[in-house]
Amino acid sequence: MMAPQVVSSPFLKPFFLKTPISVSSPRRQRRHTLPASEFRNLTPQDAISVFEIEREAFISVSGECPLTLDEVLVFLGQCPELSMGWFEEGQLVAFIIGSGWDKEKLEQEAMSTHVPDSPTVHIHVLSVHRHCRQQGKGSILLWRYLQYLRCLPGLRRALLVCEEFLVPFYQKAGFKEKGPSAISVAALTFTEMEYQLGGLAYARRNSGC
Ligand SMILES: CC(C)(COP(=O)(O)OP(=O)(O)OC[C@H]1O[C@@H](n2cnc3c(N)ncnc32)[C@H](O)[C@@H]1OP(=O)(O)O)[C@@H](O)C(=O)NCCC(=O)NCCS
Repeated sequence: MMAPQVVSSPFLKPFFLKTPISVSSPRRQRRHTLPASEFRNLTPQDAISVFEIEREAFISVSGECPLTLDEVLVFLGQCPELSMGWFEEGQLVAFIIGSGWDKEKLEQEAMSTHVPDSPTVHIHVLSVHRHCRQQGKGSILLWRYLQYLRCLPGLRRALLVCEEFLVPFYQKAGFKEKGPSAISVAALTFTEMEYQLGGLAYARRNSGC
């Protein structure tokens, strides 16, 4: 018998969290429902759900959104492999959108640019649905995303900018502070944060990439 062929893809195959199987209700096991929990790359079809979460998270607070709906559509069209969504029963509950960048530090131009085949991922936005915040979801999604990036060939680091109050959140995830960012949006100023993905040959060998 021929061995099955393994086709490697740069995209994230959807994977599901295992939910406990009910022993008391076998009928429930047979019913085909949406997966309880799924992580996958986003597509342009997810843009509206993304933007709804983003709008609530940012516009109501600061009047500014990291990405407009058009920019979400552009990035999910150009580099869907640098995004990740967390879906619960088909509903988007948290997401990350990234794009490629090729300079040492982030510049204003990075906000609307994807540089293909570059060693750096610029994380534009991480956002959790307001009903799901403070439950660990932002941290879990970020951790999964960084593990996933390690498996993508050629990537060395992830960069992002955030407001001062979120520096501890990203430090807990392993990011290091790089100092004040050249990027500003309206009156908002930011700190640049960096996460090293490289030098992890051992982790790669043992992570099922
Ligand atoms: C920031 C965000 C992604 C965190 O996700 P989350 O699932 O709520 O966070 P977790 O439950 O994983 O972790 C909680 C930790 O996040 C940090 N945190 C979350 N929101 C915070 C806030 N408004 N101010 C300060 N720290 C905050 C704290 O360190 C907190 O830990 P603590 O409760 O012990 O203080 C989420 O709150 C969110 O979507 N906020 C709106 C959008 C946003 O600001 N995104 C980040 C910039 S791109």
